[in-house]
Amino acid sequence: MPFSKKLKQLLFSRTKKTNWDGLIEEYKTWLPVTSKTPIITLKEGATPLIKVQSISNRIGKGVQVYVKYDGLNPTGSFKDRGMTMAISKAKENGCEAVICASTGNTSASAAAYASKGDMRSFVIIPDGYVAQGKLAQALVYGAEVIAIKGNFDKALDIVRELSSKYPITLVNSVNPYRLQGQKTAAFEIIENLGNAPDWLCIPMGNAGNISAYWMGFQEFFQAKKATQLPRMMGFQASGSAPLVEGKSISNPETIATAIRIGNPVNKEKALLARKTSNGKFSSVTDSEIIEAYKILGKEEGIFCEPASAASVAGLLRLKNEVPKNSTIVCVLTGNGLKDPDCAIKNNDSVFHTGVNADINSITKIIGF
Ligand SMILES: Cc1ncc(COP(=O)(O)O)c(C=O)c1O
Repeated sequence: MPFSKKLKQLLFSRTKKTNWDGLIEEYKTWLPVTSKTPIITLKEGATPLIKVQSISNRIGKGVQVYVKYDGLNPTGSFKDRGMTMAISKAKENGCEAVICASTGNTSASAAAYASKGDMRSFVIIPDGYVAQGKLAQALVYGAEVIAIKGNFDKALDIVRELSSKYPITLVNSVNPYRLQGQKTAAFEIIENLGNAPDWLCIPMGNAGNISAYWMGFQEFFQAKKATQLPRMMGFQASGSAPLVEGKSISNPETIATAIRIGNPVNKEKALLARKTSNGKFSSVTDSEIIEAYKILGKEEGIFCEPASAASVAGLLRLKNEVPKNSTIVCVLTGNGLKDPDCAIKNNDSVFHTGVNADINSITKIIGF
């Protein structure tokens, strides 16, 4: 490659990084915004697509696996992609308060973007089933947090009713602007790879994200920015797998609390994504999730939350079905720091405690 072309590419990629103004600014021609929309942003998006050799090696067959590390968004999850859109549109429509039901990440994201947009936020969570980091975020970002004696599905029923009766905007993924923002992750993947992957592996809870990705892949395909569409491979935890079992689950249970959802509101959209992409939905056990979570941490230096690891666990479960030489992207939806309790309980590392503060004791431990 001639030197000047190389230099141009280098300068272009640098410029893009330092001038990143958030995904609405970047993709505004693809989003339902106008010059009148006030853009409420924390510079979300542009998250890295990382090659994970340890997972590729476990599959073999020349397969290349990448993770889309969306846990590096401003509040540590993919929800920020949808929230910048939902809150910007709420602001445009003169709204002063937002509400959501949440397994944790939506509440953190809604609270942060509502504060940025100078609005109040109310979040309803299942008492005792939200990871500590997420609760801490919602509180610090200034939400009013209401923990109910009931699960996510119950919380969602309540916020849907409240938002239909009172002037408060619902920012769960039933809000169509959420999915519009989230579809941009598919755009970024196509731009990074130069095409869509063969498989997109993704955890499913309410199934908004898989629907959003599918919308994004289709839009770029229709615009000829990609020459193929991926198979949409959705994964749920086995104790909480309504889309795999084809029925609602009244008492969903899993270590992956973010996807502890028994009655997904975006079910129809997700089923359509599966059908039109020739995709597949499967479940993974909590121990498969934790195994994938540990591999990513220990062998790749990537700390994701348990729900996110379901995408990699699912891929490993289906490894015999993976076509030779294919390119696969697994979505890591949330950051591992959100759930420190899970991390402390589930690792294979050695943790020496109460060690004397002298060099001899430590030398002995290190083994010199
Ligand atoms: C970390 C994480 N992964 C996956 C999901 C599932 O996303 P969706 O509800 O859009 O299927 C959630 C939803 O809360 C989440 O927080």
